[in-house]
Amino acid sequence: MGLKRLDKLIALNCNVSRKDARKLIKDAAVTVNSRVVLRAEELVDADVDDIDVKGYNFTAKEHIYIMLNKPQGVISATADPKKKTVIDIIPDELKRRSLFPAGRLDRDTTGLLIITDDGAFAHRIMSPAHHVYKTYQTALSYSIDENDIKKLEDGITLGDGTECLPAKVKPFVFNGLPGAEIKIREGKYHQVKRMFHALGNNVEQLRRIQIGSLKLDTSLAEGECRELTAEELELVFTDED
Ligand code: URA
Repeated sequence: MGLKRLDKLIALNCNVSRKDARKLIKDAAVTVNSRVVLRAEELVDADVDDIDVKGYNFTAKEHIYIMLNKPQGVISATADPKKKTVIDIIPDELKRRSLFPAGRLDRDTTGLLIITDDGAFAHRIMSPAHHVYKTYQTALSYSIDENDIKKLEDGITLGDGTECLPAKVKPFVFNGLPGAEIKIREGKYHQVKRMFHALGNNVEQLRRIQIGSLKLDTSLAEGECRELTAEELELVFTDED
């Protein structure tokens, strides 16, 4: 992780403001290698130094990655004056400053969403150039046929003329309803809904179950989340095939 100012590291890992971090240091609540440190600007290396903050569970990590099973009715934004956001439902022990969703799911879409404070990671997931496939399960108004699958797999053109990259598609039964499992590597606005709309079909329900090779943990109920392990994080950028 390298050398960092003590107040910055505490703010980041204890989810407090820089001002509060400086107060903790001034109040002698912080030890580095069992020595009380009173200088906020002291440089420390969280990988090497043993840092303890009284009253806080200090675990130094440069970034945090949270798997959320997004429920319906919350929006993929960091803050909103009226609507509940995916950040609002993250429990306090995982909350940090600067958390945001890596990509967005519509308000009525459920499933796998990664919440992080790592901008470079989020960019890598979202950019089509990095070819990270996202897998969705849909309930549809009508069953799809071979012709529909071919159109989607060739790269369908949306109603407004937008061309989509080729998708991978197979029929799927969604809670007893006709549906499809579809993998896409872009994130255009309402993309999956618009892709099926271009076929004269309609998405009734939508959930994301996978990003790269990382599958949604089925033990997480909708609205629940947990931190990703280092191995799981790698799966995001691992191809399945
Ligand atoms: N495509 C959609 O139409 N909606 C989502 O939430 C995600 C992908």
